[in-house]
Amino acid sequence: MKVLITGTSQGIGKATAELFIEKGHKVVGIDRQEAAVVNENYTHLQCDVRGELPEVSDVEILINNAGTQNEDDIEINLKALIRVTEKYAMQKSIKSVLSVGSASGHTGSEFPEYCASKGGVIAYTKNVALRVAQFGATCNSLDPGGVFTPLNDCVVNDPALWQDIMDQTPLKRWATSEEIASWAYFLTVENRFCTGQSIVVDGGESINSKFVWPE
Ligand SMILES: NC(=O)c1ccc[n+]([C@@H]2O[C@H](COP(=O)([O-])OP(=O)(O)OC[C@H]3O[C@@H](n4cnc5c(N)ncnc54)[C@H](O)[C@@H]3O)[C@@H](O)[C@H]2O)c1
Repeated sequence: MKVLITGTSQGIGKATAELFIEKGHKVVGIDRQEAAVVNENYTHLQCDVRGELPEVSDVEILINNAGTQNEDDIEINLKALIRVTEKYAMQKSIKSVLSVGSASGHTGSEFPEYCASKGGVIAYTKNVALRVAQFGATCNSLDPGGVFTPLNDCVVNDPALWQDIMDQTPLKRWATSEEIASWAYFLTVENRFCTGQSIVVDGGESINSKFVWPE
């Protein structure tokens, strides 16, 4: 299938592009950085998703992954994601749309504009699901908790902060980019009936609420 993924030059987007190529798909990647994936089945389009978007026809799977934290979050994580989706997904070849949101869109923790941008992704996912259903396509969001990517080096490399995070995470670990990529593959290729949903993959961090009751 023809797969368009944003944010493929590092982290989750790079791992997702590599997994789809390994599974025999053709991947077009959009990123403001240079290509990090080199493969005959990979085409890199270097641009900022806030600017003019390149022409890519007949996209079958769209994965909105490009995102930032504390840098124009609503413009990049939400408004550009909407522009990308409206341009590439609203056509009859589309089979599935997936947006990488965040568990913080559900919990409200993390930075204010970041949370708001990811909360917007949850609502927009349902809106798109209703509109792409006419093409037989699904639309969901994949909302990770902590993932080992360069975005998080500042807490992963600080032993005290890392311990604090692990104390709040029932499964006592974070996900790798490859693990999130496999969820992206499942939700866009294997899944054909779940749509309009936001799937939290966070090791239980967002459900970690203390029950208070007399002994
Ligand atoms: N890492 C985590 O813990 C985590 C948790 C929850 C959600 N997410 C989400 O997953 C997605 C990927 O995050 P990541 O951790 O792999 O981040 P990352 O910073 O490692 O990679 C993001 C990629 O997007 C590209 N990008 C950013 N802004 C862009 C723009 N304006 N135009 C074009 N390309 C742009 C970057 O160049 C980079 O290659 C993001 O939407 C992020 O919010 C990450």
